[in-house]
Amino acid sequence: MALDARLAAAAELCRPGLPVADVGCDHGKLTAALACSGLYPRVIGTDLRPGPLAKARRTVEQAQCQDRVQLRLGDGLSVLSAGEVGTIVIAGVSAQTAWQMLEAAPWVSDPGGPRLVLIPATRHDELRRWLAGHGFRLVCDRPVEAAGRWYAVMAAEYDGTCRQLTLAQALYGDTGRWPEASGYQAKQREKLAKLRLGTPDGTPAAREIDQLLKGE
Ligand SMILES: C[S@@+](CC[C@H](N)C(=O)[O-])C[C@H]1O[C@@H](n2cnc3c(N)ncnc32)[C@H](O)[C@@H]1O
Repeated sequence: MALDARLAAAAELCRPGLPVADVGCDHGKLTAALACSGLYPRVIGTDLRPGPLAKARRTVEQAQCQDRVQLRLGDGLSVLSAGEVGTIVIAGVSAQTAWQMLEAAPWVSDPGGPRLVLIPATRHDELRRWLAGHGFRLVCDRPVEAAGRWYAVMAAEYDGTCRQLTLAQALYGDTGRWPEASGYQAKQREKLAKLRLGTPDGTPAAREIDQLLKGE
């Protein structure tokens, strides 16, 4: 099953040997690729809507891996139970949709809870702030270009330590470790000018943005 660079990076971050959930699976390519890999005892593909889930079913049947796949219709993590999976992938939905799913399932912060693999479609900075503010540590924050757009493929685990991020930490995360960082960070920097327009002069936030705009 061919995956784009974004979903291929997400697949690399799933914990092998444990069941995995692909929430918002839509076309089902990631669900099928994870199942075909043989690395997971079970892959649970979920979606809010029946149409995408039917697409996923066709993909899984074509890939002939239905023996390892369960498809579930429902909202966010409501179709999963605590301790059921080692990894939850949430890819291709807005940052806000992702954190609302997580807020509705407090068991994601249980000791030894699942690894979260997240590819927000928007507002990467706000998702990083949400994760840090809710006790999740980023174990990977990889910039990936796919179909002419930049994404951040994040893996997060709960350690219970809530952190506040600076603007630079929220905007760029840990992407600086990767060779692709300059392309991703240039795209993220473009957001600063717009952010500055909505920030009153003389405030600490304005000073932080001005420093980043000057490249400090
Ligand atoms: C743009 S597709 C992303 C598909 C795939 N994960 C990817 O990244 O290529 C988003 C999918 O998420 C589903 N979705 C949106 N909100 C959801 C929710 N609250 N719970 C489950 N699925 C949801 C949509 O129905 C849609 O199929």
